[in-house]
Amino acid sequence: MTDKLIIFDTTLRDGEQSPGASMTRDEKLRIARQLERLRVNVIEAGFAASSNGDFECVQAIANTIKESTVCSLSRANDRDIARAAEALKGAASGRIHTFIATSPLHMEKKLRMTPDEVFEQAKLAVRFARNLMGDIEFSAEDGYRSDIDFLARICEAVIKEGATTINIPDTVGYAIPELYGEFIRTLREKVPNSDQAIWSVHCHNDLGMAVANSLAGVKIGGARQVECTINGLGERAGNCSLEEIVMAVKTRKDYFGLEVDIDTTQIVPASKMVSHTTGFVVQPNKAVVGANAFAHASGIHQDGVLKARDTYEIMRAEDVGWSANKIVLGKLSGRNAFKQRLQELGVMLESEGEIMAAFARFKDLADRKSEIFDEDILALVSDESVTAEKEQYGFISLAQHSETGEMPHAKIVLTVDGQEVHGESDGNGPVDASLKAIESQVNSGAEMILYSVNAISGSTESQGEVTVRLQNSGRVVNGVGADPDIVVASAKAYINALNKLHDKSDRVAAQF
Ligand code: KIV
Ligand code: ZN
Repeated sequence: MTDKLIIFDTTLRDGEQSPGASMTRDEKLRIARQLERLRVNVIEAGFAASSNGDFECVQAIANTIKESTVCSLSRANDRDIARAAEALKGAASGRIHTFIATSPLHMEKKLRMTPDEVFEQAKLAVRFARNLMGDIEFSAEDGYRSDIDFLARICEAVIKEGATTINIPDTVGYAIPELYGEFIRTLREKVPNSDQAIWSVHCHNDLGMAVANSLAGVKIGGARQVECTINGLGERAGNCSLEEIVMAVKTRKDYFGLEVDIDTTQIVPASKMVSHTTGFVVQPNKAVVGANAFAHASGIHQDGVLKARDTYEIMRAEDVGWSANKIVLGKLSGRNAFKQRLQELGVMLESEGEIMAAFARFKDLADRKSEIFDEDILALVSDESVTAEKEQYGFISLAQHSETGEMPHAKIVLTVDGQEVHGESDGNGPVDASLKAIESQVNSGAEMILYSVNAISGSTESQGEVTVRLQNSGRVVNGVGADPDIVVASAKAYINALNKLHDKSDRVAAQF
């Protein structure tokens, strides 16, 4: 047993399985680079066999990332495993992660297999994978609801076949911390060769206990790998959140006695990047990365913090990457200052062309907003990744009129397949009128299932960041747009979502 806790990030695989969170190859690459800067030990880049798009994402990430192990999920069959190995060929360090369900319910109803068949398939899958790669993770899906003796038999067999990590997921978020910790501990005791593998936990958050369960799996169960996602992104109520697990282990080192390799100052930039890319807004009171996580509103608290920070703060905002919210650049700042600030924020744009386009956006924003914060730059750069794609629809301009007692009216100019088109409409409010004006030209027929506005840097002078979730023909996508004018931000978010709906090929999230 080591005293290091391995951080396995699955934002790009399990996180992406949230409805609407699907990402393009470029977006995934950008997040993978940020995860590498964060120094996560393992990046689960996708599920190579699920689609050509996912295969290419895993391959591109494997060919780019040097400091973290890159992993692909695969079902327990030769075709999936061979596909994963193929996608990971260029990785400096690669891992195949193969899984099969082991609970009575999943085996009988989902797989329609007997326990003996599952046992054999798990063994053969790991044997096949181990012939292709040295680093093999085996997951027992719905492991926590499995018969512990059967699970122990499978774990022993796959370790014999060469599995180097054994992961016991609480797939449906059913566990209770103490019980889950005991389950992992007892399971390890029942597996005679348990010391030949690293034990891992993977908890979903359906009862809000994913982080607590994972910590119990570590403390009571002796697991030394935690699977988690940025902002706790993931199916249904999400996964164990990376920022919470890492800061719990670091802040309470006295209790856990474990080291993590994570550069915690990269946590907030990673959180913002994932939130902006997927359109999943971080709730203000979210631990570590929520806007209020370090805000002290009550007079007594403020007084205490001014006298001695540790009266009410157990972590330092700057240690998790909250910039001091300083004004960093303005209207007169030049291209070099902009480029340098991007570097300081850890943002790497691919080409000179991308930097020039981002700088042009920055100048445009600085003309309209006197103070530019780090958060503005991060939003603007994420927008840049959006516009770098080949787009069906583009925003040009918006004019809208609203007055008390009168029906708001909006006029929009956009591009459709490169052609400029003009639309106008009334609406219940200025946002409604603007989106109806867009629809008058686009006729997407999409249904809006979520609309939300956030202030990027916290005041009325801030840019508004709008998230729009659209649904059409069974597909769900999130669009994001930022602008000092929230009606314009809404139009940009809507257009961003329409482009994602249109761009079918690239955005099929890995599912199994
Ligand atoms: O939740 C789960 O069981 C999973 C496995 C595939 C690891 O995501
Ligand atoms: Zn999962």
